[in-house]
Amino acid sequence: MKNETEEKLARSLTAETTELLPFLPYLLQDLWELGSSPKDMIRLIKEYMPISDDTKILDLACGKGAVSINIAKSLNINVYGFDLIPDFIEFANQKAKELNVESLCHFMLGDVNEVVDTEKDYDCVIFGAAGNVLGNPKETLIKLLKTVKPQGFILIVEAYLPNESSDMEIKYDNYKYLTHEQWLRLFVDCGLKLMEEVTSIEEIEEHDFDSDNKAIAARADELISKYPEKRAIFEGYIQSQLNECADLENTVVGVTWMLQRL
Ligand SMILES: C[S@@+](CC[C@H](N)C(=O)[O-])C[C@H]1O[C@@H](n2cnc3c(N)ncnc32)[C@H](O)[C@@H]1O
Repeated sequence: MKNETEEKLARSLTAETTELLPFLPYLLQDLWELGSSPKDMIRLIKEYMPISDDTKILDLACGKGAVSINIAKSLNINVYGFDLIPDFIEFANQKAKELNVESLCHFMLGDVNEVVDTEKDYDCVIFGAAGNVLGNPKETLIKLLKTVKPQGFILIVEAYLPNESSDMEIKYDNYKYLTHEQWLRLFVDCGLKLMEEVTSIEEIEEHDFDSDNKAIAARADELISKYPEKRAIFEGYIQSQLNECADLENTVVGVTWMLQRL
């Protein structure tokens, strides 16, 4: 894997160093959802997309498949998920079996930067909480657009700065956030119509970050006992998790956008 891909992969999961990559499946073993809200996605798909037996959805950087599997289960739609972490793909396939949606769920190992060149004609592409792995926001939207049919949809989970003159401190500083206005301009430039925006304010109240962080911290402690020489990187990971949550609570706005290709 290229260095840049590895670095972005680590950062997409809030890891500041690629040294953490082999430990991420262990640290995240108690979580299924890794960023996006399956509930919001299902509601948006139901509301805006015409659904038939032929409908197919592409889930790029699908993590452990929480979004795709829930969509398959609730809406009986074929989903194709790609991720770069083998343990996540294995977990997703296992979970799809457990929930009896394995015939609808197709999870594969792959770099989304390559997948966007081969996967075409989807009714909808999902890109959930994966940061800059496809490039900057404009590059990301252009790559996502290549995978959907005309009139197809993009569901993207992102975070934006509330306003231009925002001088608030961004604690998790590996990712450069755009303002809301800059995103809206980008949608117009890319030929995308904003159908609906769901901000994470309610989600944050609903989602128990605390218990996620506690679970990760407990796993990090286990790893510290096993690899005491790596204490600093595990403690660093716990801190990055806390910083990211603090940003989402105080500084940036987490958002899910439902967009349609014009
Ligand atoms: C924060 S998680 C989000 C997972 C999922 N979309 C969700 O919302 O639950 C980011 C995911 O991006 C994946 N990822 C990062 N770089 C990638 C790449 N180049 N190709 C495929 N997946 C990648 C990571 O393995 C991780 O599962």
